[in-house]
Amino acid sequence: MPTVLITGANRGIGLEFARQYAAEGWEVLAANRTPFKPMDIVDLGPGTRELRYDGLNEASVADVAARLKGHAIDVAIMNAGYGDDQQLAPEEIHEAHWQRMMLTNTWAPFRLATLIEENLKAGEKKTLVEISSLAASNGTYTGKRQFVYRASKAALNQLWRSLAAEWKPWGCICLALRPGLVQTRMTDYAGELLPEESVTQLRQVIANATPEQSGMHINYDGATVPW
Ligand SMILES: NC(=O)c1ccc[n+]([C@@H]2O[C@H](COP(=O)([O-])OP(=O)(O)OC[C@H]3O[C@@H](n4cnc5c(N)ncnc54)[C@H](OP(=O)(O)O)[C@@H]3O)[C@@H](O)[C@H]2O)c1
Repeated sequence: MPTVLITGANRGIGLEFARQYAAEGWEVLAANRTPFKPMDIVDLGPGTRELRYDGLNEASVADVAARLKGHAIDVAIMNAGYGDDQQLAPEEIHEAHWQRMMLTNTWAPFRLATLIEENLKAGEKKTLVEISSLAASNGTYTGKRQFVYRASKAALNQLWRSLAAEWKPWGCICLALRPGLVQTRMTDYAGELLPEESVTQLRQVIANATPEQSGMHINYDGATVPW
């Protein structure tokens, strides 16, 4: 049975990843800050294990890795993240805001990835995913504001690109995936895709990923997203 680690699996895109992998019989390691709702645990079934993960707490990030020591991971999906600066003007952004989002969206996924290197090496698929955003793309994004969110996801993409080069010798495939505009709490449920639609396609991209795609930013439909 393959194993997937998902951060932020308690709702939105992360929960949908958990549902779909669990339905296919995968072992799901759900690294959640907020626990699953009881009904979701029942739906996910006995192959799901929940671990406490708070991206703002370095000890919590390290604890997830420590608890998984010796446990092979096929696919790790660093999904937990947020973006609440859509309406903020530049002068309204303060250091605390910057630190919080950069820690959650950029540092925590990178730190956890480095701490589970041996787990990924032991897995068959050796695939490390981060959930990126069109907002990180200089080439295509025309939206306004989201200053810190854009910076956090662009930096995350660069970290993944560097990891792709660093971990190429042992065959790790590092993917920055864009989920599309998805109906979750983050978008006030106003996206163009349902979580099921986005995640079904993202899982295909993950399943079909090749070493040549490592370090790339890829859309949910498989197209390359310009940097
Ligand atoms: N929805 C979209 O259109 C869209 C587009 C591009 C990228 N994304 C990315 O997709 C990912 C998932 O977002 P979503 O749309 O599914 O939004 P969501 O429903 O708001 O879910 C966000 C998830 O991230 C978790 N999270 C946030 N801060 C955390 C922290 N400090 N520690 C641990 N977990 C934390 C949340 O946990 P709590 O419940 O504990 O808050 C929740 O599980 C995010 O990285 C987001 O940037 C989404």
